[in-house]
Amino acid sequence: MMEFTVNYKINNQIKIFESISDLSKFIGIFWKENTENLPGEKFYSIALSGGNTPLKIFQFLSKDFNETIEWNKIHFFWGDERCVPPTDNDSNYKLAKDFLLDNININAQNIFRIKGEVDPKEEAESYSNTLIKNLATENSLPKFDFVMLGLGEDGHTASIFPNQIDLFHSTNYCEVAEHPTSGQKRITITGSIINNSDTVAFVVVGKSKAARVFEIMNNKESSNQYPASLVCPRNGKLFWLLDKKSASMI
Ligand code: 6PG
Repeated sequence: MMEFTVNYKINNQIKIFESISDLSKFIGIFWKENTENLPGEKFYSIALSGGNTPLKIFQFLSKDFNETIEWNKIHFFWGDERCVPPTDNDSNYKLAKDFLLDNININAQNIFRIKGEVDPKEEAESYSNTLIKNLATENSLPKFDFVMLGLGEDGHTASIFPNQIDLFHSTNYCEVAEHPTSGQKRITITGSIINNSDTVAFVVVGKSKAARVFEIMNNKESSNQYPASLVCPRNGKLFWLLDKKSASMI
């Protein structure tokens, strides 16, 4: 696995991979190492992201880590969801179900999806309660062990878009967001949850993201408008898992 690591800020690491397979392998090894010695009823909580990038990661993990990870030691959640039914091809839950969850040995009760088919405001509140009920607590907030995040070409992450950057600072754990061009309603976790996580991993591939990665890594003035630039786990680790194209400007 070809990679090299650049340490920047404390606890933050940029890892640049030859391929998305190598990037996926890193995630698989990280999840394996963080689940294999969990005692008894303990579990490892992961919030998945959506969009296109995770698809290849899910395919790789369900093939190459199928028997390697104790999947029932993991509880899967989502960092955001489109307000569509779970059968809709736009659903982040469906993406994970089709390419990961249906192909690994994991119990249904380990899966906590955001219900995109119900009233968005009601689900934002309901999912906040799901987080309270099913996650550990740190700093009096629900705490994920691992949050996977993507990076939009506009600098958005989860479903917090630049024109709604204030949602990142909401005191609510989940908010209703709206895609700036399609108007599609989304449910998203907010910065209070993201930055309370033990590990946050941006997974970013492709040349189209290179400029945003450069601006954020170099704290450029322009990056202040990007919600992704606000991700800074209070006590946790932050990984930027990149390929050579998305890292081509740093
Ligand atoms: C979503 C995602 C979103 C995504 C970025 C990057 O629901 O769409 O959570 O934040 O991660 O838009 O998407 P790509 O991987 O498709 O570039």
